[in-house]
Amino acid sequence: MFVAPFFLSLLLAQLVHSDCECGYTVNATLYTDLIETDFLHLANITTDTDWQPQNYTVTPALARGPYGKNASLTNVVANPLKSKYDWAGDGINGGDAGLQVLVRGGIPADGLIPMGELATTRTDMSFGTFRTGMKVTGTRGTCGAFFWYFNDTQEIDMEFLSVEHNATSNPVDLVLQSAESEEAGFNAAQTGTFQVHQLPFDPAGAFHEYRFDWSPESVSFYADGVLLDTMTQAVPTSPGHITLSHWSTGNPDWSAGPPTTDAILTVEYLKGYFNSSDPARQRDWAKRCKDPSAVNARCPIPEVTEAPNGNVSAKTFFLACRRTRR
Ligand SMILES: *[C@@H]1O[C@H](CO)[C@@H](O)[C@H](O)[C@H]1NC(C)=O
Ligand SMILES: *[C@@H]1O[C@H](CO)[C@@H](O)[C@H](O)[C@H]1NC(C)=O
Ligand SMILES: *[C@@H]1O[C@H](CO)[C@@H](O)[C@H](O)[C@H]1NC(C)=O
Ligand SMILES: *[C@@H]1O[C@H](CO)[C@@H](O)[C@H](O)[C@H]1NC(C)=O
Ligand SMILES: *[C@@H]1O[C@H](CO)[C@@H](O)[C@H](O)[C@H]1NC(C)=O
Ligand SMILES: *[C@@H]1O[C@H](CO)[C@@H](O)[C@H](O)[C@H]1NC(C)=O
Ligand SMILES: *[C@@H]1O[C@H](CO)[C@@H](O)[C@H](O)[C@H]1NC(C)=O
Ligand SMILES: *[C@@H]1O[C@H](CO)[C@@H](O)[C@H](O)[C@H]1NC(C)=O
Repeated sequence: MFVAPFFLSLLLAQLVHSDCECGYTVNATLYTDLIETDFLHLANITTDTDWQPQNYTVTPALARGPYGKNASLTNVVANPLKSKYDWAGDGINGGDAGLQVLVRGGIPADGLIPMGELATTRTDMSFGTFRTGMKVTGTRGTCGAFFWYFNDTQEIDMEFLSVEHNATSNPVDLVLQSAESEEAGFNAAQTGTFQVHQLPFDPAGAFHEYRFDWSPESVSFYADGVLLDTMTQAVPTSPGHITLSHWSTGNPDWSAGPPTTDAILTVEYLKGYFNSSDPARQRDWAKRCKDPSAVNARCPIPEVTEAPNGNVSAKTFFLACRRTRR
């Protein structure tokens, strides 16, 4: 074929300039750093230094439920696709491919409900756009949470209460924790930065992309690229980290549960484009970004407007590939 080398050289020419060395953009907003994890092809979460699967316990009293919580590594289970070339199909253990975050079913003998959670190693995320492709559980009695955290009064949450989901109602809870919610005993429902939105789909029926964009002025929440809400009060100001968590305390006013059988939340990917509060990272960026006006020095972050469907194709972009392929 004569055309192959021609197209190849075009492709290479494009890649040479595609460094994203000055960062990643949503319209005019620039972010300098990124974290991208492809859980569809990740065989062992404990070997991924970007993440820390959590191991802790919380007493029933502190968990504010009839039960406490026991987060352990056994409830964060990699179930990657069978081949690194695939973008669809079952995982190696069967069922939906991706990272499984579990809440174990049944009444726990020791009063602590076994659950799974993972947090990013980096805690320097200071404004950014954060996206995850995930499918929540259809098993009643858990809270599936995708959130950014600094402390109990600076926190951005997207939460799914499986007990509230049925054929006609598919709510997602959008929360900014605040001093106000602390005063209300961490019942954010009593505050202005708690909004329940109906999703136009069953979040336990398929994978969807959930996203929040956090700027100094506001936090905007999205599902499959559709804006759900923008909040301008209680916007966090400190640097923090991202957590994916699946838990239950049996509290009838929130998670309900415990679930009767093991409940699985499955994650396809996490992508975060953010600024760093770490002066060393800021210096690295300044050194790396020699000419912001150079071709592709700044990479636009693609808008995802369709659900990443693991049965047809969950193929998705990773901008980090563009930096390493040179
Ligand atoms: C980016 O700009 C487009 C086109 O004006 C607009 O539709 C979109 O809402 C903007 N995105 C954000 C996150 O502001
Ligand atoms: C992120 O940092 C860059 C470089 O300092 C800056 O130009 C940009 O405005 C910052 N973005 C936000 C959202 O603060
Ligand atoms: C994952 O890696 C850790 C550390 O190397 C190892 O101890 C563990 O057995 C591995 N787990 C699986 C499921 O391969
Ligand atoms: C989890 O934490 C407990 C209590 O701190 C500790 O004994 C145990 O070794 C930890 N397990 C893992 C796998 O880190
Ligand atoms: C927490 O769960 C782990 C894994 O199932 C188990 O080994 C450990 O004993 C539990 N810890 C407590 C305090 O219940
Ligand atoms: C969270 O951090 C902010 C900023 O440092 C502080 O004002 C607030 O009191 C902290 N909240 C809690 C619950 O510690
Ligand atoms: C679904 O849940 C909503 C909200 O909890 C409730 O009002 C409605 O009756 C439920 N519908 C069915 C079919 O169970
Ligand atoms: C893929 O198909 C299986 C079997 O029909 C179904 O259980 C699963 O929910 C589907 N997954 C997605 C992501 O649509």
